[in-house]
Amino acid sequence: MLEGKQIVLGVTGGIAVYKAVELLRLCVKAGAEVHVVMTEHAREFVTPLTFQTLSGNPVQTDLFNLYQEKEIGHISLAERADLFIVAPATANIIGKVACGIADDLLSTTLMATRAPSLFVPAMNVNMWENSVFQTNLKKLEERGCLVMEPETGALACGYVGKGKFPDPEKIFANVLKVFQARDLEGERIIVTAGPTVEKIDPVRYLSNFSSGKMGYAIAAAALERGAEVVLVSGPTALKRPQGAKFRPVTSAKEMFEVVLEQLPEATVVIKAAAVADFRPVIFHDRKLKKGDEEKWVVELERTPDILAALGKAKDHRILVGFAAETENLVENARRKLANKNLDMVVANDVTQPGAGFGGDTNLVTFLFPDRAPVALPCLSKEVVAHRLLDQIVDIRRSREKGASGC
Ligand code: CTP
Repeated sequence: MLEGKQIVLGVTGGIAVYKAVELLRLCVKAGAEVHVVMTEHAREFVTPLTFQTLSGNPVQTDLFNLYQEKEIGHISLAERADLFIVAPATANIIGKVACGIADDLLSTTLMATRAPSLFVPAMNVNMWENSVFQTNLKKLEERGCLVMEPETGALACGYVGKGKFPDPEKIFANVLKVFQARDLEGERIIVTAGPTVEKIDPVRYLSNFSSGKMGYAIAAAALERGAEVVLVSGPTALKRPQGAKFRPVTSAKEMFEVVLEQLPEATVVIKAAAVADFRPVIFHDRKLKKGDEEKWVVELERTPDILAALGKAKDHRILVGFAAETENLVENARRKLANKNLDMVVANDVTQPGAGFGGDTNLVTFLFPDRAPVALPCLSKEVVAHRLLDQIVDIRRSREKGASGC
């Protein structure tokens, strides 16, 4: 994903330094060449040797180290960067960059670089809320630096509030965004997301635990990569991704109708929604009274299988389904792949930790009719979304190659 990319990782002094080690590992694993610059205070928390071992490159620490200067030097380090990350970024480094102070290797290199920069602040909540700090942060943003908002929670200093260093996976997803090729330009992708809701009466319904996070992450990632996106979503609590055509729906029947209406223009359909398989035969327009009943039977009928219908009508389109299973994962997912005429199925065993509904991560395997399966480790839903889209790009490219006979 990041082969041939040069990243400079600036590490400043805070308890989250140890998490920057994980960020470094993710970048290296994705193929990036990473050069680490540590401030004096950062070295109080983790030794340079850890970063050096994992990056495979000497860690830079001093502005006036003749040996290092000859080898790399702050100017060439600044020039070679395709991306500059500062993580964790203290209030001090943000203040220095905002005000143009260059008094150590990191702040000098930052001043000399023209590469895009991503700052990941982490600090005590009172420092975060300090108005001078906020003014400095704004200055960085106005200059085009990317800044990741810290998370809210229990802080290492004993306070509870905003200032927590985000999960390295989330930072890595932002790193990918910076390098993301617009490799989906020209694609018009329908993404379905969230649960469907099948009403019994005005106050009761049947639904499922889908949060919609996976589908929304796919829609956002596809937009970043240049696709036109129609997001057909069941009810969720999520913010709609900017730039997507948004079509809210409630029931499976409504989702079916909207997807079929959008289909003629689509080149790809990704069905991440958890569609109810059954709905009540009768919708009662008045609230059902329980009376003296000890038991209550609601008669259900099948909803349309949207994906199976798409499988019949798909023509040249790339069709991706999901298979959320609790047993016989691969076997069940393969059956869906074949029965619904899919080009790819995203299989996940929702009983596994880190997989499935509601959470921020997923643990999936991609299955195809004609290529080897791809099993991913537990990853953030943002990263899973990008990996899924990588496969779509790959399928598209191999179709084009096949068509041109090369
Ligand atoms: N799906 C659909 N319409 C339905 C049911 C499912 O389009 N009425 C789609 C889902 O969006 C998903 C895929 O089919 O992409 C698989 O859904 P899943 O619920 O895992 O499987 P089912 O086909 O419903 O089979 P089963 O419930 O027996 O596992």
